[in-house]
Formats: sequence, C-alpha cells, structure tokens
Amino acid sequence: AGDELAAYFEAVIGADQKIEPRDWMPEAYRKGLVRQIAQHAHSEIIGMQPEGNWLSRAPSLSRKAILLAKVQDEAGHGLYLYAAAETLGTSRAELFDKLLAGRQKYSSIFNYPTLTWADVGAIGWLVDGAAIVNQVPLCRCSYGPYARAMIRICKEESFHQRQGFDLLYTLARGTDEQRAMAQDAIDRWWYPSLAMFGPPDADSTHSAQSMAWKIKRFSNDELRQKFVDMTAQQAGVLGLRLPDEALRYDEQTGHWRYTQPDFAELTRVIAGDGPCNRQRIEHRRRAHDDGTWVRESAAAYAAKQRARKVA
Ligand code: 3HC
Repeated sequence: AGDELAAYFEAVIGADQKIEPRDWMPEAYRKGLVRQIAQHAHSEIIGMQPEGNWLSRAPSLSRKAILLAKVQDEAGHGLYLYAAAETLGTSRAELFDKLLAGRQKYSSIFNYPTLTWADVGAIGWLVDGAAIVNQVPLCRCSYGPYARAMIRICKEESFHQRQGFDLLYTLARGTDEQRAMAQDAIDRWWYPSLAMFGPPDADSTHSAQSMAWKIKRFSNDELRQKFVDMTAQQAGVLGLRLPDEALRYDEQTGHWRYTQPDFAELTRVIAGDGPCNRQRIEHRRRAHDDGTWVRESAAAYAAKQRARKVA
C-alpha cells in the first residue's frame, strides 16, 4: 500500500495536479511546506510593523486610508497562510511560539527601518513588487491550500505595488526635497529587495527538492532576474534612478545586467543581525501577549455558543 500511495503522490505531482490535505504525502514534503508557509505567514505579520510606523504620519487622508487598507491586507494574508499551514497538522499557536522562540524565520526585508514617508512608497513598489514576482508562480504550487491562498493574495499585492509606485511618482514630481526623499528611499531598499529572493541558486539548500515537488517553480536567481527586468523599466517612467551603476539592458539576452546584492549581509540579517530584528520580535511578542485576553474571550464565547447548541 505504501508504494501505491507514493506512486499516486508522484503521479499527481507529475501531472501538475494538486495534493490536498487528506492525500498521503512524504513527511519531508509536509515539513518543507510547513517551514515555507509558516515563514511566509510570519513575514506578512511582521511586515505590518515597518509600514504601520507611518500610519499616524501619512501626509493626507487618502494616503492614510490607502496605507491602512494595505496593512489590514497584510494581516489577512497572514491569516490565509496560517490557515493553509494548519491543514498540514500544525496549529497557529505552535507557529507563533516557534517564531517568537527564533525557531522559525520571516523575510529578511522587514528587518530594515522605514526612515521617511517615501519608504512606504519604496516598500510598495519594490518589496511588494518582489513579492508579486515570487508569489505568482506559487499560485501553481503543488499543494492545493497554499496555491489557492496565493491567488487571492496576488490580487491584493497588485494594489499594494500600484499604490507604492503612485506614491513615488507623486514625490518624484514634487519639490526637490520630496524628489530627494524618494531617491534616498529607493537607494536604501533596492539591494535588500533583491536579497529577498534568497541566496544564489548555488547556495540554496531547498531549491532542488522544492522544484522537484513543484512547490518552487523558478529558482531564486531566475525570479531575481525577472524582478530586475520588470523594475528597471518602471524606474525610467518614475524618473528616479536605481542605485546600480552597472545596470544596463543587454540586447543579446533581452535581460538587464545588474549588480548582485550583498549575500553576506543577507546571511547576517537572516541570522538575526539586521538593523531591526530585535525590535520586530519584541514588538511581536508584546502584541501577542497584549492579545491574550482577545484570544481567551473568543474561545470562551465559542465554548458558550457550542454549549448553547448542545443544550
Ligand atoms: N529571508 C529570510 N530567510 C530566507 C530568505 C529571506 N529573504 N531567503 C532564504 N531564506 C532562508 C530559507 O528559509 C532557508 O533557511 P531555512 O532552511 O532555515 O528555512 C535558507 O535561507 C536557504 O534558502 P533557500 O533558497 O534554500 O530557501 P527556500 O527554498 O525556502 O527559498 C524563498 C526562499 C524564496 C523566500 C522561499 O521560501 C519562498 O518563496 N517563500 C515564500 C515567499 C515568502 O516567504 N515571501 C516573503 C516576502 S514578504 C511578503 O510576501 C509580504 C508582502 O506583502 C510584502
């Protein structure tokens, strides 16, 4: 029976079909998905901090409303992804504990500070832009609940990326100070956004297996290149400069040549040595503790509802 189940799993993956929660799956497939989906969910929730930092200082009511909608969306993305992870037999509480204990990761990108209002635009345009390039292929990932969560998330990310571009476009056509603020934000967020895609393929520990199981559909370097190709063109429309003297379009390959991010810095940030790692986790821990009464009230209310139904 074991061989038949394994053969069925391989056949489903081979035929580009979806593995669903009740299907048999190799333990390593399950564990690899919990690792990636949990990390993805943690990234969405931690990502609310750098952006939320500017909610009370947005320059206009409409910018505040847009940013509020985006931060709420990120919370929702975290919810869909924790729910997808729970279909693999883990619980949200367990994942939170692992994050707070430093046993699970979140995206390196959110360990950088948001120093000016223009950072909100740079995050939207660059970080959400990179997230779209990384997440669109995940809509075709072999695990059903993850792929379906991605479809809804990608639609909302497009709005996030668009509002970031629009914010920078406005600043780039404003006063000299506003233009300089937008350029400074792009200078600080460009390379960390390239690093978001992970280490170079040669140093990627999970890519080979993840691609064999059709979780990862393109390699880290392929997605990084796709992001540079898309963003280099948009920078021209913005009238702002990407901070890479070597950036230039290569007629032969049809791609943009560019300078790689500092992967030693990525390793340090992943290991906890980024500008904001401690602050992000402490804020998360405080928010989690402050939310205990909400979780307990919701559980008590649900128990009362159940008791009422039974009575
Ligand atoms: N930040 C933190 N850790 C990273 C990382 C990053 N940017 N890139 C790689 N790593 C870690 C991996 O987790 C792995 O460590 P682990 O074994 O302890 O988990 C190690 O570095 C080696 O990297 P691999 O290439 O082998 O790892 P993956 O195959 O998992 O590839 C990935 C990395 C491309 C980020 C992949 O995990 C992925 O596609 N994840 C889902 C997408 C995601 O998490 N995006 C977060 C972006 S933030 C976001 O989407 C919010 C948006 O709204 C702004």
